[in-house]
Amino acid sequence: MAVKMWAGRTAGATDKLADDFNSSIHFDCRMYKQDIMGSMAHAAMLGKQNIISQTEAEQLIAGLTDILADIDSGKLEIAMDCEDIHMFVEQVLTERLGDLGKKLHTARSRNDQVALDLRMNLRDEAETIIGLISDNVKSLLSVVKDNKTTILPGYTHLQRAQPITFAHHLLAYCMMLLRDMDRFSDMKKRMNVSPIGSCALAGTTYDTDRYFEAEKLGFDSICLNSIDGVSDRDFVVEFISCCSVLMMHLSRLSEELILWSSWEFKFVELSDSYTTGSSIMPQKKNPDMAELIRGKTGRVYGDLMGILTTLKGLPLAYNKDMQEDKECVFDAVDTVKMCLMVMANMIATMRVIPENMKRAAQEGFINATDLADYLVKKGMPFRSAYKISGTIVAECISKKLVLETYPLEEYKKHSDLICEDVYNEISLETCVEKRISVGGTGLESIETQIKFVEEQL
Ligand code: ARG
Repeated sequence: MAVKMWAGRTAGATDKLADDFNSSIHFDCRMYKQDIMGSMAHAAMLGKQNIISQTEAEQLIAGLTDILADIDSGKLEIAMDCEDIHMFVEQVLTERLGDLGKKLHTARSRNDQVALDLRMNLRDEAETIIGLISDNVKSLLSVVKDNKTTILPGYTHLQRAQPITFAHHLLAYCMMLLRDMDRFSDMKKRMNVSPIGSCALAGTTYDTDRYFEAEKLGFDSICLNSIDGVSDRDFVVEFISCCSVLMMHLSRLSEELILWSSWEFKFVELSDSYTTGSSIMPQKKNPDMAELIRGKTGRVYGDLMGILTTLKGLPLAYNKDMQEDKECVFDAVDTVKMCLMVMANMIATMRVIPENMKRAAQEGFINATDLADYLVKKGMPFRSAYKISGTIVAECISKKLVLETYPLEEYKKHSDLICEDVYNEISLETCVEKRISVGGTGLESIETQIKFVEEQL
């Protein structure tokens, strides 16, 4: 039975099973850097405010600097039998500096310490994630630029609907991912508020300087209510929400990659390095990576539900339940980062097969709207034009023809307004080029969209 640093009222001798249950070091050890940096700022503040002497503050900072360097270099291994990372650092500091180490925790509690560490950790992770999303946008953009005039069917209800370009389709994902980047930056603003100095919950009787600590640690401001500072984890909820929206986007893209790489579509071929084979069927090339991204989306949603549920019934202020925040959010962080790295490479290495896209576009009567529009431009009301176009499509199907090969004399039976120029009007290229509305699939709009995405990056 290990004796705890908090031994006092109790003997601090807990059962091994209780220790294992209570301990968080195996997941909060990843915050060691933030924990030590927070402690350095705290020691500096204690010295500046004459709560400890200036020399003591300097010795504490030097001791903490050594601990950080030793963990970084692998010289000091984090002891997994400690309760948490905060206790570990303080314990090592006290072993190395003696009684002076015990002064560090003046005017502080693990309650504000853990809130601080987590905010600092997630603020860094948010930056990393923003960078990885941007890599994905860049990967997509390079495929976009190669496929500005690659025609494929655009779908609604997964039925061929209207011709679009592959650039247009992928640019839709670029826009979604840009908003994801923006969501993370926006969330970061609310997260970047310092809880340190809230202490256990009520503040402290020492003359501390919370603004000094916050500034040293790169925060924009401080939590003005100490109970709020130690109690809320809305920043964790927001962080995982951002992750969830992002994963939803990645999952939809994955679903399309899975469809597109099937024999039924064959619009793209994923690279060998991002597919797997089957252990029994030699012909198989499975889009496992895309499927896993789609699958892991559910897991991130689970992390979100987990933290929301953990928090919903908690009275203020700190409750040990809140230790559960870290496993959800770290799982979301790791999952999202991995998925983003895989997706960026998968997109960058896939082969686009424009011929198959074109073939699908030719077979789906996706220019039927354009045939109707042609009649409207010649003076026919849209509903009548729509009806005629639909009837012609039905005839084409029964005669195994497409609108492009339907004979003019047959067209004429439906309306005198149809002349030779119809063929140019309903060609897929014209259908795409004519969609000149802002945001549409026409080339000018695509160029504008590319420019927009580049500017945002
Ligand atoms: N390991 C704890 C956590 O993650 C640190 C805070 C402990 N505070 C306490 N009053 N027991 O939440």
